[in-house]
Amino acid sequence: MGMSERINEIRTILTNELEQAETTQLLDNLRVRILGKKGELTALLRGMGQLSPEERPQAGQLINEARESFTAMLDEKLAVLKAKEREEALKREAIDVTQPVDLPAEGGEHPITLVMNEMIDCFTGMGFEVVEGPEVELDHYNFELMNIPKNHPARDAQDTFYIDDNIVLRTHTSPIQARTMLSRKPPIRVICPGRVYRADEMDATHSPVFHQMEGLVVDKDVNMADLRGTLNAFAERIYGKGITTRFRPSFFPFTEPSTEVDLTCAACHGKGCRVCKGTGWIEVLGGGMVNPKVLADCGIDPEIYSGFAFGIGLERIAMQRYSIPDLRLLYEGDVRFLNQFR
Ligand code: PHE
Repeated sequence: MGMSERINEIRTILTNELEQAETTQLLDNLRVRILGKKGELTALLRGMGQLSPEERPQAGQLINEARESFTAMLDEKLAVLKAKEREEALKREAIDVTQPVDLPAEGGEHPITLVMNEMIDCFTGMGFEVVEGPEVELDHYNFELMNIPKNHPARDAQDTFYIDDNIVLRTHTSPIQARTMLSRKPPIRVICPGRVYRADEMDATHSPVFHQMEGLVVDKDVNMADLRGTLNAFAERIYGKGITTRFRPSFFPFTEPSTEVDLTCAACHGKGCRVCKGTGWIEVLGGGMVNPKVLADCGIDPEIYSGFAFGIGLERIAMQRYSIPDLRLLYEGDVRFLNQFR
């Protein structure tokens, strides 16, 4: 068979195959099959060695022309396929912006978290810093450094979850006072929010796990009026204008003097109602001046420094604020209850 016949044969194959090549991938394969190193046309070029010297130039020219023309054919088809593939990709990837979307169900914050964050906002605005401590706590910090000696009733196994002789689930956030005083120098101004544990049966007003926020200020010349002013600012911020505090004498081993602090009942604004049992006041926290013995045990000289501390029960605040009648609602995880706070 002559060279030009052979080339025509290849051209026929190429023409047929081109018609059938539907993708750029198939087209690539075809290009390799015809023009590649082991391709059909390349084979003709290799075979030229068998031709007589007179035949060679003409054969070479035919092959080169064929290569050019075949390349052009392949390129032409390639352009067509590429355009087609681009078109298809655009169609496939098109986003219908008018289609309604299914938004994932959105969670909300738990009422305790809402109250905690609001209180953090309030106190950080007054220059307090948030610090935390462990829930599994050493007896040493939870009791000993808080001036709660070995035989104090607060240590009664009834109230405290003991892990072993030296380790407890913290019964209040006060151990963070000790941890803070031992690790920082005055001036100290911190709040410490967190979970605390007491061996109480669960009922409408008690839970074995609840939340407190401790406050501690230690500096020169800190006095009870500073505590009062701080808590009054807090009361107004959380409950609104006209809400103030009432201090009643109390006792805590780690403060001296100690006070129980009531807030104006937000439900009746002090007139007296069912919520406050007619008194006009709601008890929400304990506080006082840090006992000089506690300061000294925590490495702070009580001759130079004084401090105040307070501990606020978050559940009380949340229940008052959202009119929640039963503490258990806060822990049961009932979505019908929780959905109201989204
Ligand atoms: N730790 C006390 C309690 O749990 C509250 C408190 C904190 C009182 C700081 C005085 C000072 O009841």
